[in-house]
Amino acid sequence: MGRPQLQLVTGLVAVALAVTACKETTIDERPCPPEGTTLTYESFGKAFLDAHCQRCHGRTTSERNGAPSSFDFGTADAARSHRARIFARAAADNVTMPPGPDDPPAEERERLAEWLACGAP
Ligand code: HEC
Repeated sequence: MGRPQLQLVTGLVAVALAVTACKETTIDERPCPPEGTTLTYESFGKAFLDAHCQRCHGRTTSERNGAPSSFDFGTADAARSHRARIFARAAADNVTMPPGPDDPPAEERERLAEWLACGAP
């Protein structure tokens, strides 16, 4: 392969990697385990959302740090209705929420993925 072709191939690989890196994993890509989940809003979801999200999403307008007012995860029903977007921003390998350095541990993101994939019971 000549040098220009090699550069073209290298460039295409770099673009493909960049596109993959930006892509979010969606809730449809994560099936609920066949045995279901033991996680519930009361045993897991509420504590996770309170600890990592509600600092912005649960506040009054002036304290939300720009979190959209329609995205408040303060009740089981609200969390359930937003579960696809919560997944896309914070579950499994999705790490764009919360913004900033205080990330939940990876295993907590895995538990979040399981709970949401099973319908956020
Ligand atoms: C430090 C404040 C802050 C925290 C903490 C935070 N968010 Fe956000 N959130 C924002 C801001 C600002 C936006 C609007 C900009 C954007 O979408 O990136 C937003 C937007 C969103 C949206 C709506 C946009 C979309 O992609 O559908 C969702 C869903 C969301 N956040 C989920 C979460 C989850 C889940 C957590 C906890 C794991 C969380 N956020 C924690 C500030 C925060």
